[in-house]
Amino acid sequence: MATELQPDSERRIDIVALCGSLRAQSYNAALLDAAARVAPPGTRITRFDRLGEFPLFNPDAEYPSPGAVRDLIDRLNAADGVLIASPEYAHGVTGVMKNALDWVVGCEAFVYKPVAVLNASPRATHADAALRETLSVMSANIVERASITLPILGSQLDAAGIAAHPPFAAALVEALHAFGAEIAEGTSTR
Ligand SMILES: Cc1cc2nc3c(=O)[nH]c(=O)nc-3n(C[C@H](O)[C@H](O)[C@H](O)COP(=O)(O)O)c2cc1C
Repeated sequence: MATELQPDSERRIDIVALCGSLRAQSYNAALLDAAARVAPPGTRITRFDRLGEFPLFNPDAEYPSPGAVRDLIDRLNAADGVLIASPEYAHGVTGVMKNALDWVVGCEAFVYKPVAVLNASPRATHADAALRETLSVMSANIVERASITLPILGSQLDAAGIAAHPPFAAALVEALHAFGAEIAEGTSTR
C-alpha cells in the first residue's frame, strides 16, 4: 500500500513502515497504512509485511541472514526514513518487533536513520518508552515532532477510516510533514 508519487514533486521521500502486530485487523497496521494514504505529495510509504517470517533471532544464524531479514535490511538501507507502530504486550514491545530489531542491530541499518514512532494507544506508555530506548541504543534518529500518539485502539477504524477521520488525518499529515522536513534537512547537510 503506497501513495502515488507526484511527477512534479521536488524531492521524493521513501519511507518504510514496520508494524509490531501480526493481526490481520491490526490497528497499528491500519495506522501505518493510513499514513501511506495521507502522505504528502512526493512521499511514498510502504509497509514491510514480512516480519512474521523472521525466525527467532540467533546470532549463530546471522550470516548469511535469512531471506526475509535480508529483504528488510535492503529496504532499510534504501529508505530515507522508518515509520514504526507497535502494540504493547504485557508492558513491553511485542516479540515480533523486538525480534526484528535484534536481527538488524548488527547491520547498523538504523544508525542515524530518521525514525518516527507512532503509538496507536495513549495507555501503551511502557512499550513506547521501551521501543524508543532500543532505537536510541541503535543510534536511530528518533524524530520527536513526527512521533505522535493517537487514540486509534478500539476505534473500529481501518486504514481508510483513519485517513478519512479529520483529526486523525490532520495529525498524521502534520507528523509526516515534520518527518519529511527532518529528512530533507539531514540530507542537505550531509
Ligand atoms: C498478549 C497481549 C498483551 C497485551 N498487553 C497489553 C499491555 O500491557 N498494555 C496495553 O495497553 N495493552 C495491552 N494489550 C492490548 C493490545 O495492545 C491491543 O490489543 C492492541 O490493539 C494490539 O494492537 P493491534 O491492534 O495492532 O494488534 C495486550 C494484548 C495482548 C494480545
